[in-house]
Amino acid sequence: MGTILITGGTGVLGKKLCSHLLSAGKNKVRIFSRNPPSEFTSLEWARVDLSTGKGISDALAGVDIIFHLASGTAGGFNAKTDINGTAMLLEEAKKKNVTHFIYISIVGTDKVPYKYYKYKWEAEKLIQNAGLPFTILRSTQFYDFIGMILGKIDILPFILFLPKKFKFQPIETLIVAQKLGEIMNAGPKNRIENIGGPEILSFGEIGREWIASKKSNKRVLNFPFFGPLGNSIEKGNLTCSEKSRESRTWNNWLALNSGIVAAK
Ligand SMILES: NC(=O)c1ccc[n+]([C@@H]2O[C@H](COP(=O)([O-])OP(=O)(O)OC[C@H]3O[C@@H](n4cnc5c(N)ncnc54)[C@H](OP(=O)(O)O)[C@@H]3O)[C@@H](O)[C@H]2O)c1
Repeated sequence: MGTILITGGTGVLGKKLCSHLLSAGKNKVRIFSRNPPSEFTSLEWARVDLSTGKGISDALAGVDIIFHLASGTAGGFNAKTDINGTAMLLEEAKKKNVTHFIYISIVGTDKVPYKYYKYKWEAEKLIQNAGLPFTILRSTQFYDFIGMILGKIDILPFILFLPKKFKFQPIETLIVAQKLGEIMNAGPKNRIENIGGPEILSFGEIGREWIASKKSNKRVLNFPFFGPLGNSIEKGNLTCSEKSRESRTWNNWLALNSGIVAAK
């Protein structure tokens, strides 16, 4: 087997995937991102900017399998990174005869009217039509991401304001990384698969458990979120019927991580 490339290997999911692949004995792993990794410094790293395509060709030398995780998640979502960048990556992957292109997407990209999800959906379509063997994994929101959002909005002294009726099915990031590893071992399926957390929770429930984990007595109050985006999330369009039994529950994850999350 040639080199395994992880685009976005320095991100939240990327780091978990790196450790998972290394623990499974897959040591021909290369990461690409714009900034160098602070962990896994023994791994090969290539500086690539997907929004311009700079560095893609060299980064794909000798690559057999691609996990495409990089995404313009920071500083305003960027179509150039997610759509144009994916198109350039696919072109180069075809030239290099990549045998499996694995993409991480989000449950509901095809249903929830949100700019970022539209970009992810466009990227999915590019992959489906590229003529390369592929598997797309749509995941629900990671616990790390929900924790990060709550950390940002939990800023008032006595209350936590959030759209209580939103429905999420969050999942442990490590389990998503492990699923990506299974997908690689199973070989290309040329289809979209879903992975979701063990329970569907309202944002109100998620917020209450978050507050309890911090031993706080703040009240969780509803922040009304009107319009098509809010309606779609309230209807459960970010959830799926696949419920991972391997993932910890939100409550258990909080118990394990409350120190870390609270410290952020
Ligand atoms: N977070 C969630 O709840 C969730 C749920 C389902 C699916 N996903 C998907 O999972 C993937 C990873 O999410 P994450 O939360 O781990 O993201 P993240 O922590 O924000 O990591 C993003 C990664 O992409 C790289 N990147 C960003 N812009 C780039 C560019 N122009 N060129 C090259 N690399 C670039 C970043 O490195 P540099 O900044 O150094 O370039 C970083 O390694 C994304 O595709 C996301 O859509 C996330």
